[in-house]
Amino acid sequence: MNETSPQVLTTVAEVRSALADASGNGARPVVLVPTMGALHEGHLSLVKRAQEVPGAVVVVSIFVNPLQFAAGEDLDAYPRTFDADVEKLAGVGADFVFAPTPTVMYPAGPRTVIHPGPVATILEGKTRPTHFAGVLTVVNKLFNLTKCTHAVFGEKDYQQLLVIRQMVEDNNMDLEIIGAPIVREDSGLARSSRNTYLSEAERELATTLSKALAAGAAEHTAEEVLAAARAVLDAAPAIELEYLELLGADLGERVVGENRLLVAARVGATRLIDNCAVTLSA
Ligand code: PAF
Repeated sequence: MNETSPQVLTTVAEVRSALADASGNGARPVVLVPTMGALHEGHLSLVKRAQEVPGAVVVVSIFVNPLQFAAGEDLDAYPRTFDADVEKLAGVGADFVFAPTPTVMYPAGPRTVIHPGPVATILEGKTRPTHFAGVLTVVNKLFNLTKCTHAVFGEKDYQQLLVIRQMVEDNNMDLEIIGAPIVREDSGLARSSRNTYLSEAERELATTLSKALAAGAAEHTAEEVLAAARAVLDAAPAIELEYLELLGADLGERVVGENRLLVAARVGATRLIDNCAVTLSA
């Protein structure tokens, strides 16, 4: 394959001028794929989705955002594999990589932050109360820096996708958010950069999450869905369940029709999340 490496940009001035040039000052769409690196097939599927936007100039940001990690979380341990990431992005033909340092992103430190709506207080927000403010703050900055017309996020972080959509809607931001389906390993395990923390035995155990979701999704009423998913989780007591919740697709009240089943659990020291659509008939 004839691979061309994406151009790596690291400063505000570079990203502004390179993307303005490549897009012909807005004549072509700029499609952003925000990531924290440690790229896997899931991320590459987001890049491929970005490339489906006609005429797209695709920029992938790689930035481990300190603002979305609380004290005691895995900021320092988070996998950083920059050279391998750029190679993978060359393989799929991404145009640009934006890889700023924390000082480039937050020259004044964490000062102005974006406060998410109430949907950020449930599920992930219960144990990670500052997480989504950190996510929105960096995502808003990335939107402003790249002047992107579209941005692609995975449904793996379903609540994150919703909180970002709300920020865009509530602030009349002039860009389109594209949600992309979860990419799974053959075992059903949702692809995640944090899977690299898992031992072989833990990786096997971690498939319980997707098995529980699949068992739930095969049922028809809320009670049946939750009971089926919980039975699978209960059969694997080594997994420390944090939440299993069935909510509407907007993470509000359940409805007849499409809903979302979401799970978070610790497998060993690793915290994993997963989710799937569930259709309720009553
Ligand atoms: O989903 C992620 O990897 C991060 O939360 C994001 C959207 C890149 C913001 O840092």
